[in-house]
Amino acid sequence: MDTISVVGIGKLGLCMAGCIADAGYRVLGADLDRRVVDAVNRGEAPHVEPGLAELLARTRQNLRATTSTAEAVAASEATFVVVATPTLPDGTYSNAQLEASLRAIGEGLRAKRSEHLVIVSCTVMPGTMEGLVVPTLEEASGRRLHDGLALAYNPEFIAMGDVIRIFSRPDFVLVGESEASVGERLAELYGRVCANRPPLARMNLISAELTKIALNCFVTTKITYANMLAELCEHVPGADLGAITAAMGRDARIGPRVLRGGLGFGGPCFPRDNRAFATFAESRGVEARLPRLVQELNEAVQERIAARIEESLAPGAAVAVLGLAYKPNTPLVDESPSLEIVRRLLDHGFSVRAYDPLATPLARQLHGGALDYAGSVEECLAGCQAAIVASDSEETRRIAPELFRAHLPEGGLVFDCWRHFRAEDFAGLRYQAVGMPS
Ligand SMILES: NC(=O)c1ccc[n+]([C@@H]2O[C@H](COP(=O)([O-])OP(=O)(O)OC[C@H]3O[C@@H](n4cnc5c(N)ncnc54)[C@H](O)[C@@H]3O)[C@@H](O)[C@H]2O)c1
Repeated sequence: MDTISVVGIGKLGLCMAGCIADAGYRVLGADLDRRVVDAVNRGEAPHVEPGLAELLARTRQNLRATTSTAEAVAASEATFVVVATPTLPDGTYSNAQLEASLRAIGEGLRAKRSEHLVIVSCTVMPGTMEGLVVPTLEEASGRRLHDGLALAYNPEFIAMGDVIRIFSRPDFVLVGESEASVGERLAELYGRVCANRPPLARMNLISAELTKIALNCFVTTKITYANMLAELCEHVPGADLGAITAAMGRDARIGPRVLRGGLGFGGPCFPRDNRAFATFAESRGVEARLPRLVQELNEAVQERIAARIEESLAPGAAVAVLGLAYKPNTPLVDESPSLEIVRRLLDHGFSVRAYDPLATPLARQLHGGALDYAGSVEECLAGCQAAIVASDSEETRRIAPELFRAHLPEGGLVFDCWRHFRAEDFAGLRYQAVGMPS
């Protein structure tokens, strides 16, 4: 394969397109959004993602964008589909963008002769490949599966703010394939694109669809386990949560990642994949008590943290919140645990000033003027009686404790959601942390 098209060059698709172009492939990106297409053709990043601007500047020769999906498909040998699949009220994903893009892909296929591989990377409900993708593509293209048309389900396990790094060095690549040659072609592509020659987990389409949401459901369960342990440690003086989770993580059956204890999970993937997993299980008559409970326990984490903070403050106190996004290095605030705590504080009469320049525009859209937004950590802390360290970023970890001492009043509260700091650094203030007794 030499020329690849990517339909849907949004937050995930454009990073994928850039990484594939960076490996030497000619890449055609297609998107309905002209603003995105024009920016890409100027070599500029239409959205915020670390490394994206540099990647697009570097790949200008190999990466072009168009508003015509049919044209991009006709000129390529394989097409990644990375349009959005937003969550519907019943917990399943909307296929509206997927179906529209498949029709346009089918149209493009009518304009070419050679065999074509369509690779769906969107998050979908299990059964969508067979139930929607195959019939829609067959009808729109006039081709039959296995006869000029091959299919893959190849979702990514990627978190915003880290998309390019994870796509370039994944733990593994999940490939659901309509036939064996598909996995072989994707093995070659990922072998060129990824710096770490990742193993491929190859299987049939339905198994890959299930793996995608089952894996995310497992990760949320593991995060929730660590949060349960954090709550317990808050009631056991002397217990060192970090030492406990680090030791447990050394057991190969467990592993260290996400076993941390903090604010709980949020963002545009984990909560909705968890709900989709539960909804799918229930649709098959299987009780989904585990994912439903994980969701409930995750909400309880934010309730517990907000209650601890409120108990330690005078009514109506001014609270500085460092970090609003659901994780570092992203503007996204979808189901952000930090914003959930902010909402509770506002509901209970506290005033909030927040510092998170990347996430401020989206937070403002959601909460308007209900809270203040500061342009620096100092401005955020000044005049507040408490500070919540909600961000898990390196930048936050490096804030000097003296800054809190300089701006908060004597006896002011520092509430550390990630145990970045040590109590002894905050003489004159009260230091509390998730996973430690007050
Ligand atoms: N963003 C992530 O980190 C991430 C991680 C894992 C999985 N996913 C999955 O990847 C998919 C894409 O997510 P995203 O965050 O990149 O979404 P996004 O909304 O940022 O991007 C989707 C893009 O598709 C374009 N589009 C919509 N309909 C189209 C059509 N018919 N033809 C061409 N373009 C069209 C939109 O204009 C938009 O630019 C979703 O299924 C999501 O669940 C995303």
